[in-house]
Order: sequence, then C-alpha cells, then structure tokens
Amino acid sequence: VEKKDFIYEGKAKQVYSTTDENLVIIHYKDDATAGNGTKKGTIVNKGVMNNKITAMLFRMLEKNGIKTHLVDVLNDRDQLCQKVKIFPLEVIVRNVIAGSMAARVGVPEGTKPTNTIFEICYKNDAYGDPLINDHHAVALGLCTYEELAEIYRITAQINNLLKDAFDKTGITLVDFKIEFGKNFKGEILLADEITPDTCRLWDKETGKKLDKDRFRRDLGGIEEAYIEVLKRLGA
Ligand code: C5P
Repeated sequence: VEKKDFIYEGKAKQVYSTTDENLVIIHYKDDATAGNGTKKGTIVNKGVMNNKITAMLFRMLEKNGIKTHLVDVLNDRDQLCQKVKIFPLEVIVRNVIAGSMAARVGVPEGTKPTNTIFEICYKNDAYGDPLINDHHAVALGLCTYEELAEIYRITAQINNLLKDAFDKTGITLVDFKIEFGKNFKGEILLADEITPDTCRLWDKETGKKLDKDRFRRDLGGIEEAYIEVLKRLGA
C-alpha cells in the first residue's frame, strides 16, 4: 500500500489516501493546541510518542475484543488505518472529576464520583465542541440511538481495559476522549488516538500530571511527561 494524496489536516494529525480505497495513512504531528485552537505550540517528538502510545493501547484493546481502525504502524509517525466515516462526536469518560466538568458543575478536581460519567460533545470547532445529550445527537443526525447504545457499550469496555492497563503502571486514568467511525462494512470501530493529548493521567503516588494539562496550564516538563508515559507503558 502506497501513500497517495493529502486528504485532511486536523490539529494533531494529517490523513492521506492510499492505493487501497479502504485504507488511509494517519501522520502524527508535533503540533499541540488547547482551548479549541486558541493556544498553539509544539511538543518536541509528540507525534512519534503518540503514534507509539496509540498503537500500543489499540493493540491491547484489539487483543481484548475491541475493534479499532489500526492496521499497522508504518514508521515513527505514520499508521496504516481502516478508512472510516467518523461520527462527529467526542465521547468522554470521567473516572475522576477534573477539567471542564469540575469547572462546569463546581466540584473540585480530583473528586471521585460514585459512578462513571459518560459525556458526548458535538465535534464542531465553530461552536466549541458543545456538550450535548443523546437526543441532541440523534436530532442533529450525528448517529442513531442504536449506534449510540453500541458506542456506549464499547466505551464501557474500553474504560475498564484502559483503567487496568494504566493502573498497572502506577497511573490513574482520570478521564479521556475517544472517537468512533464506521468502516465500509458498516462496523463501528474505535478511531482517532488514545494518548496523553486525549487522556488525563495522574501518577498514583504523587498525583503528578502526565498529560496535556502540562501544556494547557503552562506547567512545564511536557516532553518529560509524555516520555514517562511511554516508558511506563513500555510502548
Ligand atoms: O476538557 P475536558 O475536561 O472536557 O476534557 C475531558 C477529557 O477529554 C480530557 O482527558 C481531555 O484531554 C479530553 N479532550 C480531548 N479533546 C477535546 C476535549 C477534551 O481529547 N477536544
């Protein structure tokens, strides 16, 4: 399979078509953004690290029965993936309250809720990826109720598997965002990435933030945090 044309550029990745119409190449960049693109920067080698971390986690999930878009890692920054039509939804899971939820409902960061919290946001930069509910998603034509039910079912499995995988390395999986897409066969696959860009990861012992909040909140030591996650996962 050969790289063909540039199709699309997101904030952290580029997508290319290939000689196989059902496969794409996803290129991981070092660009970092926060606050819906209002803050811009680069994190040295982030693309290389996030390519490795996503591949390691997606392979672990695949071994445990989760279907993902990942086909192969081609090099330091490129993955061969199944082409999917992305649901314009960000699915967020919160095991510990932090970030936008802490700010929105006035609960201190670090509070452990009695139940796991699922949120969905409408992927729409112009409107700042607003938080929506199931009925909005269906009314907006983003997905059907049946698709949402399947997405939530897979998301719960992913959360259990990821929580365990991080816990073993001494990291609390506070929250994360995932995206799903449909391939040409109509299967719903986990797509996009799972990285310190898209997860909150706190060291279990010290509470140290090992994720993109170091960039968002100007805490410094960003590259070191990503290197630490890579090292702990053995990715
Ligand atoms: O900002 P908020 O608290 O809603 O983020 C929840 C989780 O989703 C965090 O782990 C964050 O990294 C991730 N997220 C993301 N992309 C976004 C918004 C949030 O990966 N556009």
